[in-house]
Amino acid sequence: MTDIVKTKEVQDLLDRASGLNESGGDARLKAIVRDVLEATMKIIEKHDIDESEFWQALRFLQDGADEYGLIAPGVGIEHFIDLHMDAKDAEAGLAGGTPRTIEGPLYVAGAPIVDGDLSKTNDVNLTTDPDDTETLTMSGRITGPDGEPVKGAVLHVWHANSKGFYSHFDPTGEQSPFNNRRRIKLGADGRYAFRSKMPRGYSCPPGGATDRLMAALGRHGDRPAHVHFFIEAPGYRTLTTQINFGDDPHAHDDFAFGTREGLLPIPNRDGDTADIEFDFRLQKARSDTDETFSARPRSEA
Ligand code: DHB
Ligand code: FE
Repeated sequence: MTDIVKTKEVQDLLDRASGLNESGGDARLKAIVRDVLEATMKIIEKHDIDESEFWQALRFLQDGADEYGLIAPGVGIEHFIDLHMDAKDAEAGLAGGTPRTIEGPLYVAGAPIVDGDLSKTNDVNLTTDPDDTETLTMSGRITGPDGEPVKGAVLHVWHANSKGFYSHFDPTGEQSPFNNRRRIKLGADGRYAFRSKMPRGYSCPPGGATDRLMAALGRHGDRPAHVHFFIEAPGYRTLTTQINFGDDPHAHDDFAFGTREGLLPIPNRDGDTADIEFDFRLQKARSDTDETFSARPRSEA
């Protein structure tokens, strides 16, 4: 193996390419770009990547650009970001509460806001399109670190339909906007309850960049059936999480690495209904940014 990355010539090239010799630009970005370039060069060297392979890889990235949101979880990077945040939390003494897990690429901002204060209503329904499958009911409490009820929370919920498709991203074009998506405004007792139609596990789009990458790696592109949540509440840290159905065939074989210990409830099935009782525990906010969403770009409708 040649070993030229550490030579003065290549190190100078890296400094110049990342703008280190220039006064303008962003210092943090320069440092990151330099490390990305150096890591890429080391990979080229280690695997003796030739011209053809390099340009084919670039073409793959170019053609797959609209699927980066799917590829990132598929290759475990979105899960790694969770592990990185967990590790920083542990260091800061912030462990505890319901585990976070990946957001995934399919949230849409602007879902209908419904009143879910259980002292006033007892029927919150997420599914507005006909779906001939089991009814899913879910209920529980949202508490803080000491078990206190969280007041005034908004529970954002989104999930696929019984074909494994999400509204706004449905290749059949059959779903109306915001089917299986709601923002549920909870009351002072922190209790929530909703009904919906049982989702099926999601699979990445056939023939797309993610699917092709998974096939080339000898992997599948399937997730267990799951339900996504954001929970925001004044004074508490916004939580991004999801439950995956513990009895799904892919419960322990999720291509997106979104399943986690403590987030795999098994529904109680009775006739045509599957019921899940699940409590969420939030952490206290320690700063204003704790109460907001990440600045990830999201679809909006
Ligand atoms: C992907 C799809 C999902 O529904 C999800 O929750 C996470 C990832 C994906 O296609 O990568
Ligand atoms: Fe999902």
